[in-house]
Amino acid sequence: MALYQHDVLIIGSGAAGLTLALQLAPNLRVALLSKLTLDEGSTLYAQGGIAAVLDQEDSIESHVNDTLETGAGLCNEDVVRFTVENARASIDHLIEAGVNFSHTEPSDPDSPFHLTREGGHSNRRVIHAADATGREIEVTLSEQVRQQDNIDIFENHIAIDLITRSKLGAGKKPDGDRVIGGYILDRTDDKIHTFQANQVVLATGGGSKVYLYTSNPDISTGDGIAMAWRAGCRIANMEFNQFHPTCLYHTQAKSFLITEAVRGEGGKLLLPDMNPFMDHFDERGELAPRDIVARAIDHEMKRLGVEHLYLDISFKDPEFIRRHFPMVHERLMRFGIDMTREPIPVVPAAHYTCGGVMTDTCGKTDLDGLYAIGEVAHTGLHGANRMASNSLLECLVFASSAAREINQGETDTPAQSKHESAQISIPPWDESRVTDSDEEVVVSHNWDELRRFMWDYVGIVRTTKRLERAQRRIELLQHEIAEYYSNFRISNNLLELRNLAQVAELIIRSALQRKESRGLHYTLDYPDLLESAEDTILEPGSRSENSKPTAE
Ligand code: FAD
Ligand code: SIN
Repeated sequence: MALYQHDVLIIGSGAAGLTLALQLAPNLRVALLSKLTLDEGSTLYAQGGIAAVLDQEDSIESHVNDTLETGAGLCNEDVVRFTVENARASIDHLIEAGVNFSHTEPSDPDSPFHLTREGGHSNRRVIHAADATGREIEVTLSEQVRQQDNIDIFENHIAIDLITRSKLGAGKKPDGDRVIGGYILDRTDDKIHTFQANQVVLATGGGSKVYLYTSNPDISTGDGIAMAWRAGCRIANMEFNQFHPTCLYHTQAKSFLITEAVRGEGGKLLLPDMNPFMDHFDERGELAPRDIVARAIDHEMKRLGVEHLYLDISFKDPEFIRRHFPMVHERLMRFGIDMTREPIPVVPAAHYTCGGVMTDTCGKTDLDGLYAIGEVAHTGLHGANRMASNSLLECLVFASSAAREINQGETDTPAQSKHESAQISIPPWDESRVTDSDEEVVVSHNWDELRRFMWDYVGIVRTTKRLERAQRRIELLQHEIAEYYSNFRISNNLLELRNLAQVAELIIRSALQRKESRGLHYTLDYPDLLESAEDTILEPGSRSENSKPTAE
C-alpha cells in the first residue's frame, strides 16, 4: 500500500476536474483520480452544449434573468451574474484548447458558431459540437492532461473517504478542521492507498444513479456529496433533482438522452394519438423549463396509463436532422428508429443533482483544504431548477476560479507550513478486523431496492406519505449497509451503495423539510409556493426532524 504526496489531489476527471488540472499544472504537482477511465463521466455524454452570451442580439442581463426565472426564486443572483459574466472567457479557453464547436456553415470554419436553443432560454445562446458537445470537450481536455508532466493520472481509483485532521485525532485547528488527503481504492487490485495533499478538490459529478431510471452513466453515485457530508461539510438543496423530459424509451437502451436541442430546433412532444399537448401546460410549449415539461409528460403518462410519449422532429428536412443530430440519429437507427421519418418514444429520467456541497465562488467548502466544483457542488447558480446547458458552464467557470484561488494560495503559503502539513503522519487503511464478504447478494439487492423506492416514492411528483415511507426504508438500508461495511472488506459496489444511500437520505430529508412546491420539488401536500424562498441547508451531525426510529 502506497503513500502518495501531491500539492493538489483532484477527485474526478470530468469537465470540472480536467479544466482545473490543466490550470494548476504549470505551477503545482497534481494527482488526478478517475473511478473508471479518464474520460468516463457525465461530461462525456453531454449533448446540447454550453450556455454563453455570444450573439449580438443576446445580453448578459437576459442570460441572468432566464437563469433566475428558471431557478424559481432560489438562485443566488450574485453567483448567477458571476457565472454568466465569466462564460465567454471559459468558451475562449476551450477554443484555445482545441475544442471544435459547430459553425453555422459546416464547411466554413470562418462562419460564426451555430447557437442552438433550449428550454428556459429566451435567446439562441447554446454553443455546441453538433449533438456530442461533452465528448468533444472531454476527449480534447483528456488528451492535453495526458501530456502534462505535472499531472499524475490514476484511473480506476475510487476515493473511499476524505482524511481530516480531526479524524486522525490531530485535533481541529482553532479556526476549524482541515482536509489533508483521502483513502483511495485501486479497483484493479483492491489495494487501498493513502493520498496526502495540501488541497483536495471534489469534482465527482452528481448522484442521479440514486434513481432507477437516469440519463447518467454508472459513475454518478454522489460519492463526493457523501464524502463531504461525512467529513463535516454542509449540503444544500438536495430535494431539487432534475428529471430530463426526454430519454429514449426502448427495452434495450440504457440511459440514452434525446437532447433538448431537438425541441430547440422545433421538435414537438406528442401524445400516443399524435396530438401535441405542451401548449396546455405552458405558453412556452416545448421550450418551457425542464421541471414543467417533465411534470407535464408525467401527468399525461399517468392520465393515459401509458409507458411513454413521443418526440417528433420528422417534419424537418432529413438533411437538417442528420447534420444537427448525427450522434442521436445514428444511435436511434441502431434501435430501428429513424428520427427523420418517425416520432421517438420518450420518457423522463433523473438527470441532474441541483443541490450539493456548499461552496463559495472559488469552490471553497466549509472545510479548510477542501474544494468542490462541478455537479457535486451547490454554488447557488441553479436554485430550484437548473437551466439547460448551465451545468457545463458552471464546471468551467468554477474550475477556473478554484484554480486562481489554489494557485494563489499555494504561492502565498510559506514553505515551512507546507512542510508541516506534509509531516502529519497518516496511518494506512486498517483492514485487520474485516473478512471477505460471503453475501455479495446483500449489496446487489440493496442497490436495486434503493433505486426503485427512490423512483417510486421520491420522484417527479411527491407526497409526504411517500417521502416518509422512503425515509423508513432508507434508515433500514443504511443500518444494514453500515453493518456490512464494518464487517467485510470493501468493494467498489459497496462503496457506491453506501454513498448512494447517504445521498438518498439527504434527498429525502431535504424534501420532507420543504413545505411548498418550488421548481423541481413538487408535492401534492404543499402545492403552493411560499412567499419567501429559502435554501434547505443540512448541517452535519443534525438529525432529520421527521426521522422516526421505528422499522416498518
Ligand atoms: P462528471 O463529468 O460526471 O465527472 C465525474 C468524475 O468524477 C469522473 O471522472 C468520475 O470517475 C469521478 N469520480 C466520481 N466519484 C469518484 C470517486 N469516488 N473516486 C474517484 N473518482 C470519482 N450539461 C450541460 O451544461 N449541457 C449539456 O448539453 C448537457 N448534456 C448532458 C447529457 C447527459 C446525457 C448527461 C448525463 C448530462 C448532461 N449535462 C449537460 C450535465 C453535465 O454533463 C454534467 O453536469 C457535467 O458534465 C458534470 O461534470 P463534472 O465534471 O462535475 O462531473
Ligand atoms: C440536453 O442536451 O438536453 C442536455 C442539456 C443539459 O442537461 O443541460
